[in-house]
Amino acid sequence: MRELSLHILDIAQNSIVAEADEIRIAIIEDYLQDRLAICIKDNGKGMDQETLAKVVDPFYTTRTTRKVGLGIPMFKQAAEQCEGKFTITSNLGVGTEIVAEFKHSHIDRMPLGNMSDTLITIINSNDKINLMYTHEIGEEKFTLCTRDIKKTLGELPITNLDVLIWLRDYIKENLYEMYEKAKKFMV
Ligand SMILES: Nc1ncnc2c1ncn2[C@@H]1O[C@H](COP(=O)(O)OP(=O)(O)O)[C@@H](O)[C@H]1O
Ligand SMILES: [Mg+2]
Repeated sequence: MRELSLHILDIAQNSIVAEADEIRIAIIEDYLQDRLAICIKDNGKGMDQETLAKVVDPFYTTRTTRKVGLGIPMFKQAAEQCEGKFTITSNLGVGTEIVAEFKHSHIDRMPLGNMSDTLITIINSNDKINLMYTHEIGEEKFTLCTRDIKKTLGELPITNLDVLIWLRDYIKENLYEMYEKAKKFMV
């Protein structure tokens, strides 16, 4: 994969398959410490400790459509090749949390990619899911909580096309503004 957002989508899809209805995605970009952290947490069915030990192995999957599971091992490798680290914790019936850390300026670090499209894809995949997204860049912070948005929308489903287009632009503009503000501190 060429973009971290595609890894995030892949990991969030695991959460959806695990029947999570709460997915939290947090991105922290810390230029001062030169770190980028991505955290994805769900309240899905989780894994027992034996399964958990196997999922970082590229040949493990519980899917029957393909013989190898690659999502988690590939994300782990992406972090580790950037002077980062990768942790996965999970508890049966409670949920799963993945944290991937990267050296922000590492030459091999993939760009974050298109987060607005990624979030829209997750939101559109199932309107029962509540997605909480936070993205910090230095002192700046953007938060998106689909539970709050759904309350505002009332009867109108969050998967309505006009709503999705509005949301995508809203995310895009907010992230753009945040990067513009952050630029001033980077010189
Ligand atoms: N969030 C999660 N909750 C519960 N089980 C998970 C989660 N993420 C991964 N798994 C388990 O780990 C396996 C490997 O995941 P992954 O590496 O993404 O490969 P794949 O999705 O192709 O099976 C999955 O098949 C699933 O059994
Ligand atoms: Mg997967």
